[in-house]
Amino acid sequence: MGLTIKPVTPLIGAEVSGVDLGNLSTTEFEQIESAFADSLVLFFRDQPLTVEQHIAFGARFGPLHHHPANGDFTDTQNLPPEILRIHADANTQRIAGDTWHSDVSCDFEPPAASVLKLSVLPPEGGDTLFANMYAAYNDLSEPMKKMLDGVTATHDGGPNYRDRARKAGLPLPDKEYPCHSHPVVRTHPVSGRKALYVNRAFTQWIDGIPADESRSILEFLYQHTTKAMYQCRFQWSVDAIAMWDNRCTMHHAIWDYHPHVRSGHRVTVCGDQPR
Ligand code: SIN
Repeated sequence: MGLTIKPVTPLIGAEVSGVDLGNLSTTEFEQIESAFADSLVLFFRDQPLTVEQHIAFGARFGPLHHHPANGDFTDTQNLPPEILRIHADANTQRIAGDTWHSDVSCDFEPPAASVLKLSVLPPEGGDTLFANMYAAYNDLSEPMKKMLDGVTATHDGGPNYRDRARKAGLPLPDKEYPCHSHPVVRTHPVSGRKALYVNRAFTQWIDGIPADESRSILEFLYQHTTKAMYQCRFQWSVDAIAMWDNRCTMHHAIWDYHPHVRSGHRVTVCGDQPR
């Protein structure tokens, strides 16, 4: 039957079927790359990939990233360093990704893409929301676009990752987490399109303006970027995979399933310095 691509909304997300990600032809890979550029987030069902196959699939998109907080508050189960274990159970006090964010935007070169596979799911819930940051940028007024042009913001991993350790009842990790400034509006290195690039999890302030102005502008941008029309919602199934472009989307994992278990693995593709 071949590979089929079915958009989830006009603005974001597509479900891809008729493909085995563990055994992908060059043509299928190219179709996936093209669908990824169009839809920003792709969903695949029934992909029981081994850890090695998951790593191999991610690595087709570029070198793989090592998460700066990997192992600080989750048991890595001796998995390869390219794997970030995503796990929540009855003892969890805070899950990964429970706020709108773009993965590790605090890095100097934040990840380009993430590929998450879930293998254990709660009976209901545990969906993930995704939002299109190109569309959010496009819809800003011209005066607002002009004001944000050339402005940077500081993204710090410390507050987010230390809070996770604190909530897990662990000693605060004695290490520096990445903290870097990035443009509030970035240009995607492949599409050349502009996308908003601030998020509640990592962005601390807009550089070089008074704190109250920074707070108000960021709050406006957070409200704006998370409007329902920019979003799609993925309802997971066992061995489903979601793959998203961190350079032009944000996502939010919904924790509505406590005390049930939700578990899986993520591989993350390295990106470049936002410009
Ligand atoms: C994440 O990678 O931010 C977690 C997403 C999820 O668990 O749905």
